[in-house]
Amino acid sequence: MEFRRVNSLKGVITVPGDKSISHRGIMLGAISKGKTHITGFLDGADCRSTLHCFKKLGVEIDQHGYEVVINGKGMYGLTEAYGSLDMGNSGTTTRLISGILSAQPFRSRLKGDDSLSQRPMKRVMEPLSLMGATITSDNGNGCLPITITGHGLQPISYNTPVASAQVKSAILLAGLYAPGVTSVTEPALSRNHTELMLKSFGAEIETEGLTVSVKGNADLRGREVEVPGDISSAAFFIVAGLISSHGDVTIKNVNINPTRAGIIEVVRAMGGKIELSNKRTVCGEDIADIHVETSALHGTEISGDIIPTLIDEIPVIAVMAACAVGKTVIKDASELRVKESDRITAISENLKAMGADVTPTADGMIINGGEPLHGAMIKTYGDHRIAMAFAIASLVAESEVIMDHPRCVDISYPRFYETLEELKEK
Ligand code: S3P
Repeated sequence: MEFRRVNSLKGVITVPGDKSISHRGIMLGAISKGKTHITGFLDGADCRSTLHCFKKLGVEIDQHGYEVVINGKGMYGLTEAYGSLDMGNSGTTTRLISGILSAQPFRSRLKGDDSLSQRPMKRVMEPLSLMGATITSDNGNGCLPITITGHGLQPISYNTPVASAQVKSAILLAGLYAPGVTSVTEPALSRNHTELMLKSFGAEIETEGLTVSVKGNADLRGREVEVPGDISSAAFFIVAGLISSHGDVTIKNVNINPTRAGIIEVVRAMGGKIELSNKRTVCGEDIADIHVETSALHGTEISGDIIPTLIDEIPVIAVMAACAVGKTVIKDASELRVKESDRITAISENLKAMGADVTPTADGMIINGGEPLHGAMIKTYGDHRIAMAFAIASLVAESEVIMDHPRCVDISYPRFYETLEELKEK
């Protein structure tokens, strides 16, 4: 696949359904009573991992592209899977399903691909063990494969050291099965889709500052779930529209939940022309159309509480910073080291290969932007967001970019290259 400079990037697009919300729709639908009907489902490899796992746990699920119907089994209707449950590349599937499996009266073995098998699972194993589950890691290293033996759970009040929606959600999902109130306090607010969706399925859940509490013995009811476009996918086209020399891009129907929308603030702080219109709320989630135009960008600092609200967007934000005049400092983002790849290394190495001035740090990077980028051989590390970020960088590169494994985008955005081509042709 060839990646070349373009002068003009114009058009109106939609992006696939939100990955986080699609996962949660399947999971809550599976353990609710009655039917759950999901529209706008993200038909990517990660969400398919979740769907297949719940099928293996005995749930009847029909998928037709972006539409999924789940015949919920209720809280206690899952059945033991035959063989291991395959998490594929999906950290969200692994950590969230662990919360549910911790309360089931059977044993489950969870395995994943090479990248996922190196990612830390202790962060969920510890609180779920405190609640009463027995969880062991085959290799004793706190990574997949793990075996979970469910038990009757006890509620806990847990202070998590990392701001992670996956950890928070695992505990809340387990808390649905524990008598009494389970609460989680995090150091900074992470995405709150589990909280919003649990409420709409009938759980008693409350948020106060950085603490979320859920009442156990919940009675969940299936419902309609309309999944908005994923801001993490929109981010690539937001940056593309801002950095290309004639950019004018509208992305319709994007989730702008404040716990996800940090990139909008960063674009504004860097001098980017970005406008939101048609704002509305669907299934408790804030949605808008986003319009961007070519902009003269300058550097900024990105740190502190905003980091969890844009953690997945940092690869493409770094590309934007390389195209902005002056210094951008990204810090407090050491979580990047344990994503689908070590993203601090992946971003820095690839930007350097394209001629940018980047210094990786323990918890982020410093980018002195504004120098022209040139073509390079990009190493994706099999990480979907690295591949997409550097496909966007290629739009402004002076020579051709070549990429290993460009198809890893299938994890979250199977039609990414087609959408990019559509914008180039206009
Ligand atoms: C996600 C939470 C984030 C994010 C991931 C999806 C979720 O991970 O990076 O892509 O759906 O809960 P962490 O919880 O590890 O921060």
